[in-house]
Amino acid sequence: MNFSKKISDLEKNHLLRSRRVANSAQSTQMRINNQDVINFCSNDYLSLASHPIIKEALIKGVEKYGVGSGASHLVSGHSESHKLLEEALAEFTGQQSALIFSSGYSANLGIFSALRDEIKWVIQDKLNHASLIDGNRLIGLPIQRYLHNNLESLEKKLIKQTGPGLIVTDNVFSMDGDRANIAGIVKTINKTNAILMQDDAHGFGIFDPIIPQNSIYMATLGKAAGLMGAFVSGDKEFIEFLIQKSRPYTYTTALPPSICHAALESLTLIKNGEQKEKLTTNIKHFRNMAFQLGLNFEDSNSAIQPLIVGSSSKALKISNRLFKEGFFVSAIRPPTVPPNTARLRFTLSANHKTEQIDALLEKVKNVMA
Ligand SMILES: Cc1ncc(COP(=O)(O)O)c(C=O)c1O
Repeated sequence: MNFSKKISDLEKNHLLRSRRVANSAQSTQMRINNQDVINFCSNDYLSLASHPIIKEALIKGVEKYGVGSGASHLVSGHSESHKLLEEALAEFTGQQSALIFSSGYSANLGIFSALRDEIKWVIQDKLNHASLIDGNRLIGLPIQRYLHNNLESLEKKLIKQTGPGLIVTDNVFSMDGDRANIAGIVKTINKTNAILMQDDAHGFGIFDPIIPQNSIYMATLGKAAGLMGAFVSGDKEFIEFLIQKSRPYTYTTALPPSICHAALESLTLIKNGEQKEKLTTNIKHFRNMAFQLGLNFEDSNSAIQPLIVGSSSKALKISNRLFKEGFFVSAIRPPTVPPNTARLRFTLSANHKTEQIDALLEKVKNVMA
């Protein structure tokens, strides 16, 4: 196998990915590759990843529970802190039960894995996250996708299906920032044998969850909650079924209990709403300022604000230029997004300052001119 040829091909097509090294804590102001930058590409939307209350809770969690969980949940790795967090997450999402997974990726694979013998088909929004596509692949059912956020296209696919199946959507689309029409999907699937599964990785903590009856809800703890891990919430029987049947749940080490201990504090801060209010103000300010400067951002009221530039080389060039000028904004290229829709993905956090947003957008305008 000629790996070096594969790598040089990626480089030639401006698709080679590289990792910058953070020399400081995750925050709006960071030191990356030994350079001070203002960070506009973190999913730490509520600025909880370095919040003093969460850090303190994590340390207390380590003192109480140690560092590692030691085993999978069904052996000896399931602790009191997992149980307490699951109860709190079930209550927060208005569901009977919740189940913690070690990551959003494994939670999505875990749901598909458990449903393998229960469903005959899957239909997904065209812009769903890669983990949902991988879950679909895992169980060997064809990948069928409806046009992004298009209920007519969903309906056309839906009428061709027979037997029970799954309709899957991101709630907030990870590379576009727009939101699924959950009420519209529910109306469309009414009286069919379909179950709705939503991935709320980028909405959890920011928007109130909308969880229709008998649907599946997954959200992550590594973004707005500032930590890591994920959970699925739903009816008691469904969660019990996942515990029995989800291989990515069974065959992996449980999340460290200290993370769950700290996540309980994240949930308290999410409920108190102060950080969310700051984020919402920042999103509004960003949108207004971008509009005034004539920058053509996609329509989004979430923390994710994409500026589509088309080619991968252009996206990369702008991102590198911004980095040199002290602003960290990631270039998102295929295959993460469809061909010719490479973009700069700006993400906002609660702790960004108005002046930082203004300085960023002025710079973007200059760089794009
Ligand atoms: C929509 C969506 N779902 C799932 C995941 C996976 O979550 P995790 O990072 O916890 O594995 C991500 C991660 O970026 C995501 O954007």
